[in-house]
Amino acid sequence: MLEKIKESISEAENFQAKSIEEVEDFRIKYLGKKGLLNTYFAEFKKVPNDQKKDFGQTVNRLKQVAQEKVDALKEALAIKEEASVYGDLTRPGEPIALGARHPISQVKNQIIEIFSRIGFNVSEGPEIEDDWHNFTALNLPEHHPARDMQDTFFIQTDPDVLLRTHTSSVQVRYMENNTPPIRTISPGRVYRNEAISARSHCFFHQVEGLYIDKDVSFADLKQTLQYFTQALFGKSKIRLRPSYFPFTEPSAEVDVYWGLETETDYKMTKGTGWLEIMGCGMVDPNVLENCGIDPKEYSGFAFGMGIDRIALLLHQISDIRLLSENDIRFLKQFKSVL
Ligand code: DAH
Repeated sequence: MLEKIKESISEAENFQAKSIEEVEDFRIKYLGKKGLLNTYFAEFKKVPNDQKKDFGQTVNRLKQVAQEKVDALKEALAIKEEASVYGDLTRPGEPIALGARHPISQVKNQIIEIFSRIGFNVSEGPEIEDDWHNFTALNLPEHHPARDMQDTFFIQTDPDVLLRTHTSSVQVRYMENNTPPIRTISPGRVYRNEAISARSHCFFHQVEGLYIDKDVSFADLKQTLQYFTQALFGKSKIRLRPSYFPFTEPSAEVDVYWGLETETDYKMTKGTGWLEIMGCGMVDPNVLENCGIDPKEYSGFAFGMGIDRIALLLHQISDIRLLSENDIRFLKQFKSVL
């Protein structure tokens, strides 16, 4: 009997199947209710005691071999079937064309990352704005001549509804809805009716920054900007030129010292070594008041910059229109994970 079982084991070991039906027949033959295994187990009673151990072990071995055979054959046949449906699965994959973020989004994300390191959060506001948030609250009342600095698209005939001309509108919304300390940056798209200028596409992107707390000073502003230019451009030499914005007092334009090492430096900086990168200033007390913050208790600074312009500088792109034409040959050069 023992010999017979051993024979069954070697038969099972050598069994091959071409179809799932053959595997099933094999399973029934060995492991089925009336299969070999149960037949052998039934013999167990008759086996003399001194041989029981050997017998039991051999039958169990058969059970194991048969079960493993069934599993292995089933898996092999399933893979074969899949291959006939899907083709050869072991072939190397086809390359998939990966997209990349637009350089403007990349630079925006870089700026966000740099300011988030020093505790600024990100806030956003609507692109369709009302007069209050875009102008009046920012110390630009109706008929104020400074409104002419930003030629505005109005929506339909309602002079109260417009496409925001700058992201400074978001600082108003943020101050209205939050209490100091405030540290926020607001990136977004802005619109100006400047068909004659180089920005013939009428929209561009800005990041607005706002910091309001007790005892915030101009020195804090300068230090923050220095940190920023160092982190983004690797350059921390900056200068602040007195300027005018209705929503800040005092106001300044920020230039970063780019250097005059290469011919491109000469071209970019028009031979001066300096590049203008943003506007800034101490938030005008009127603006704080308009937004429900007590200017006697709090002070703060704000700054605003054009992302498109920064992207040009950072990547030495010669024409701003390239940023909105979406020519794939141009965009391909900015593959990045940011
Ligand atoms: N809103 C200004 C513009 O669009 C940029 C700006 C300048 C924003 C100075 C500021 C600032 O917050 O303080 O030209």
